[in-house]
Amino acid sequence: MYEAYYDLKEPPFGSTPDPRFLYRSHGHREALAYIAYGLFGKKGFLALTGEVGIGKTTVIRAFVHTFDPCLEVAFVLNTNVNFEEMLYLILQDFGIEVEDASKVKMLSALNSFLIEKFAFHQNPVIIIDEAQNLAPEVLEELRLLSNLETDQQKLVQIVLVGQQELGEMLTHRSLRQLRQRIPGVLEMRSLQPREINEYIDFRLRTAGMSNGRLTFTPDAQRAIYEFSEGIPRLINQLCDRVLIRGYLQKTTTIRRELVEAGVMELSGPSQRWGDGEIREVSGE
Ligand SMILES: Nc1ncnc2c1ncn2[C@@H]1O[C@H](COP(=O)(O)OP(=O)(O)OP(=O)(O)O)[C@@H](O)[C@H]1O
Ligand SMILES: [Mg+2]
Repeated sequence: MYEAYYDLKEPPFGSTPDPRFLYRSHGHREALAYIAYGLFGKKGFLALTGEVGIGKTTVIRAFVHTFDPCLEVAFVLNTNVNFEEMLYLILQDFGIEVEDASKVKMLSALNSFLIEKFAFHQNPVIIIDEAQNLAPEVLEELRLLSNLETDQQKLVQIVLVGQQELGEMLTHRSLRQLRQRIPGVLEMRSLQPREINEYIDFRLRTAGMSNGRLTFTPDAQRAIYEFSEGIPRLINQLCDRVLIRGYLQKTTTIRRELVEAGVMELSGPSQRWGDGEIREVSGE
């Protein structure tokens, strides 16, 4: 809607975890370093947790995107499954064909695949997103996969990515064997107040805007932080609303009042657009 007015080539605050838009905040860099340490150090298991919308999927996708040539990745997104189904999804994503989907046959096919990759110095990785939804029994069985190893190292690295509930699950006594295999769960940190402007600016420039076309006053930045607490998905939702308002008011300077109106829209009662103003939706 506002892209042409602000000289943007694409929407700057989309909701997809596009690696091109990754802003390397302190928290996101820490997460990238943790993944690199675990995967290249062949730690076996990793667990990345964090608040909803903080950027877990974005970070993991950016990592895979960067290191794609030296990784062999199976991405599992569907976690409401039992262990056999999970195994089947992993095999499918690795491109392993099995005639018989019994657990024994699937485990044996996975083992042969991993040994072959090991011989060619390739790095197989299983990434399980939304891992907070996994049943504890499935998590426990996943541990057995990390037992596939040579005398020197693990044959596969498993990355669990999930909301804070995942961290809590991993503290349960019944999962202590799994927990002991994880070299520390990394809980991602949100953006700090001073990173808000850089984040917004980075996304705008990635979407094609040239420097100085649009400015957010320090007060507006503070209001964005107060609303979002540094959670990128909330910053995106708010900035999108704010830019629509900025466009309707034909302004390239975003002030606090504009942000506050955007916050009202996102958190207030059901409302709709009209003539550049927000009006309550009447019951008629
Ligand atoms: N470092 C970042 N740089 C740029 N954009 C980011 C960053 N982190 C997150 N985002 C953006 O925030 C939104 C939410 O990110 P993402 O989907 O990765 O969060 P999540 O932690 O996986 O959320 P959920 O818990 O719902 O799965 C996406 O639009 C993404 O592009
Ligand atoms: Mg996610």
